[in-house]
Amino acid sequence: MLNLGDILPLPTPWPELTAFLETRRSNLAKLMREPGPNPKDLMQILNIAARVPDHRKLAPWRFIVFQGQARADMGTHIRKAFISETPNAPADRQSFEAQRMMRAPLIIAVISAPIDCPRETPKWEQTLSAGAVCYNMLLAAQSLGYGAQWLTEWFCYNEHIISAMGLNGDERVAGLIYMGRIDTPSTERARPNLQDKLTYWEN
Ligand SMILES: Cc1cc2nc3c(=O)[nH]c(=O)nc-3n(C[C@H](O)[C@H](O)[C@H](O)COP(=O)(O)O)c2cc1C
Repeated sequence: MLNLGDILPLPTPWPELTAFLETRRSNLAKLMREPGPNPKDLMQILNIAARVPDHRKLAPWRFIVFQGQARADMGTHIRKAFISETPNAPADRQSFEAQRMMRAPLIIAVISAPIDCPRETPKWEQTLSAGAVCYNMLLAAQSLGYGAQWLTEWFCYNEHIISAMGLNGDERVAGLIYMGRIDTPSTERARPNLQDKLTYWEN
């Protein structure tokens, strides 16, 4: 447990951490199973996720945990929202939508919750901080040995679901982070050619 003003370790070469970052990939939610993070691991994941750069320390994000029956209950909302968007969809597709939250034992919604502050921190920067929370959460979960994936899919943008989750004002779902045990390794995916993304600025 850290206290305000505690002296933290200096950056030091840490080959295991570098190798973890060099090989990290997401894990597919549909391949996850029990057990998800236990209560102690959940708190550690949340604590790590919240340790992100944050201009003016606004903490412009919050968390909603979905576990147990709450996943099925949210699934009922997702099914309803799906039917109102796609009334003629076949029954098996409706059931698929109802099961979306059941893919993983634990899901954390990271909510971007930008704040109107007198000394303006641009909302763009506050949104970026919420994205950093999502990524830090992936790393935290994987560092504890859980599979993790960041998904939004269609329903995070659906008005009915946004309201069922209890979002207010400018709040938006930055991501749903699915977590659980994973036994199937990911494989390397296509990567952009870094040379296409890189310039060295010169005057
Ligand atoms: C904001 C955000 C939303 C995403 N939503 C989805 C999604 O709805 N469906 C999906 O297949 N992948 C989605 N992804 C991509 C996956 O999380 C993942 O990044 C992708 O499968 C590449 O895997 P990697 O993390 O192993 O590189 C999303 C990524 C981000 C950053």
